[in-house]
Amino acid sequence: MCGIVGAVSTRNIVPLLVQGLQRLEYRGYDSCGVAVHAAEAAGAVPGTRLKRLRGIARVADLGAQAESQGLAGSTGIAHTRWATHGAPAIGNAHPHFSRGPVPAGMDGEQAAARPARVTLVHNGIIENHEALRAELLARGYFFTSQTDTEVIVHLIDSLYDGDLLAAVQAAVKRLRGSYSIAVLHRDEPQRLVGAREGSPLVLGIGADGKENFLASDAMALAGVTDQIVYLEEGDTVDVQLGKHWVVARDGQAVQRPVRTVQAMSGAAELGPYRHYMQKEIFEQPRAIADTLEGVEAVVPELFEAARNHAPGEGAHATFRATDQVLILACGTSYYAGCVAKYWLEAIAQLPCAVEIASEYRYRESVPNPRTLVVTITQSGETADTLAALRHAQSLGMQHTLTVCNVATSAMVRECKLAYVTRAGIEIGVASTKAFTTQLAGLFLLTLALAQARGLLTEAQEAEHLKAMRQLPNALQAVLALEPQVITWAEQFAAKENALFLGRGLHYPVAQEGALKLKEITYIHAEAYAAGELKHGPLALVTSAMPVVTVAPNDALLEKLKSNMQEVRARGGVLYVLADADTHIDSGDGLHVIRLPGHYGALSAIVHVVPLQLLAYHTAVARGTDVDKPRNLAKSVTVE
Ligand code: F6R
Repeated sequence: MCGIVGAVSTRNIVPLLVQGLQRLEYRGYDSCGVAVHAAEAAGAVPGTRLKRLRGIARVADLGAQAESQGLAGSTGIAHTRWATHGAPAIGNAHPHFSRGPVPAGMDGEQAAARPARVTLVHNGIIENHEALRAELLARGYFFTSQTDTEVIVHLIDSLYDGDLLAAVQAAVKRLRGSYSIAVLHRDEPQRLVGAREGSPLVLGIGADGKENFLASDAMALAGVTDQIVYLEEGDTVDVQLGKHWVVARDGQAVQRPVRTVQAMSGAAELGPYRHYMQKEIFEQPRAIADTLEGVEAVVPELFEAARNHAPGEGAHATFRATDQVLILACGTSYYAGCVAKYWLEAIAQLPCAVEIASEYRYRESVPNPRTLVVTITQSGETADTLAALRHAQSLGMQHTLTVCNVATSAMVRECKLAYVTRAGIEIGVASTKAFTTQLAGLFLLTLALAQARGLLTEAQEAEHLKAMRQLPNALQAVLALEPQVITWAEQFAAKENALFLGRGLHYPVAQEGALKLKEITYIHAEAYAAGELKHGPLALVTSAMPVVTVAPNDALLEKLKSNMQEVRARGGVLYVLADADTHIDSGDGLHVIRLPGHYGALSAIVHVVPLQLLAYHTAVARGTDVDKPRNLAKSVTVE
């Protein structure tokens, strides 16, 4: 959610900042901007000055403008925004400027024409921005945006006394909320200062020993440097040519480890695909195979102890002590948790509650210290999920495990145990391969818990693992159904509403299918547990209502068929995803796509794939921006 890139170099870094922004654009794309210490024009007073360019078009457009206007400089910051406070508009786009307090008698136009003294980019939300704004207004600062961010730049300006690091350190002490920031001051042309609290920021160390960088995600620096320092909560960082230092919250200089991060630039290329979402849907067989790689037996040690925890706090002891599971997640990851609940209760015989993280963190609940708290998150940076984890910990629940796709994320650092899925970077805002790999990880977790509780015979374990190893091939075969799904999508493209039905663990699959459709096609889609139909939603069913039904050949199929009859009797048109051995055939008002196999307990992982394809091709037919749906962004790092 929003992206930051910054650099101190000896070469012109504008193209590099723009390239970094392009890599982060999926994090927020309603406006973007860049600011640099630009050389003065010939004949002007020697020195440097802050220059910026902002736009509400895409980053590529910003890059073209920077080139045509000759914007250049060797120290700079850049940002791509997902609006929280203030509409997507140029005036609200980052970088923001502070030109100092307005002297008495100067009008607004003159005030805005003064050179900038400080410029800043920010990810996160400042909760006390109103109080700070009032204070800064009283001190003569002139605000030009509706953002919460602008208070930070003026605050830093007001505290500046010749040392940008000291000003930033003093300013962040006054902030409440979450932030990662990168700041430049007019009088310190080769210095970039950053700080973070509740929002990620990394330092990149240049290969030449001189250049140094800041970014909200190491991916922005792919191909530039692979030497990355992950800043910790409360850190500020001083970035200069050939040197940098990190200062912890207590004001002491600290050494944070430098890690070599595999270049991910290739992963961010589209290849033969039209959209990242399509690429990621088709990567699922590989992503599942990688996620399962090395799983020869379901040992609790698969769930590695995350960093900083003493030995002995291993998975086996935790799993044996567990008498309940609490899953915390948001969005698609929450639906993965809802599927896992069925597995955990049936196979591991553990009571399981699945909670929407943003609800759980604020409600009163009854803690049980023998609970295994499981967070599910693709990014590992989702603010609500992190806050829900911390809330559970504050209630005395210390057995924590995450199923997460980013090994270096805050979530992996903060949980005692982690199962890191290997989906690879997911760029499409609509999550696809992250979901199926989460499900694979959650199924393994179920088996590991069942094994630790003595509920799994060797034969049962071998049978489950055999089925898991067949998943990549099963997914490949389902992807081959794409042409049939496209014929459905052509019909859906003209619709404005759709219903999704499922029963048992296919109810959350139906929910995930509806979420995919609504977020990228803007078709209003709702999912119901099919048995709920007659308790209300049946009133919506007419011949104009497509009803997607997930109908594998499981114990609930006959019940589901009755629900389908209820729809047909009201003229609703059914689109049914069946297994190879499900006895339902296409007919009047009834369209059936038959999946090639029968997938048993793992059916949820397979049946979601045609739903992803349906949403994708419907979006393509409607001409929406598939990878960057309106109002959304990847990685929701604000509350
Ligand atoms: C929907 C989607 C979101 C995320 C949610 C949680 O396609 O991607 O609903 O699942 O924002 O994100 P993570 O998994 O990163 O915590």
